[in-house]
Amino acid sequence: MKYAIASDHGGFELKQKLVEYYKKQGVSLCDLGTDSEESCDYPLIAHKMTNAIKAKEFDLGILICGTGIGISIAANRIKGIRAAVLYNEDVARLTREHNNANIAVFGGRMQKFEDVIKYFDIFRTTKFSEENRHQRRICELDE
Ligand code: RB5
Repeated sequence: MKYAIASDHGGFELKQKLVEYYKKQGVSLCDLGTDSEESCDYPLIAHKMTNAIKAKEFDLGILICGTGIGISIAANRIKGIRAAVLYNEDVARLTREHNNANIAVFGGRMQKFEDVIKYFDIFRTTKFSEENRHQRRICELDE
């Protein structure tokens, strides 16, 4: 599986820690920026990620801003993108099983590194259930 990560300045510190951690784990996590703590605009960062996911360059993505909210709003405006803020283990699993979420979102100023790793590992290893009712609802999102 190929993963990508991107953040604005509010998520930069957490992004750097995740890139370092997953590199040591041997997990492919491509860093799409930002490259410093200098202020930048989360909609532009979100769109870099959504373009890459829609082009199937990566299987799943991680987006981070200060709260996780602005960048998830931006990502979810794009058809075919299902970005979910992960705030506990059940949500991390259920949003893959039920929503087939393709982007995990975190609040860099709100969430602990240890929790984020736990949630993303559940997210990336859980498959979409493919049950009819879930597939139907996902189709309805894009109609
Ligand atoms: C940046 O200060 C902050 O507004 C941004 O990271 C994000 O939290 C917006 O939702």
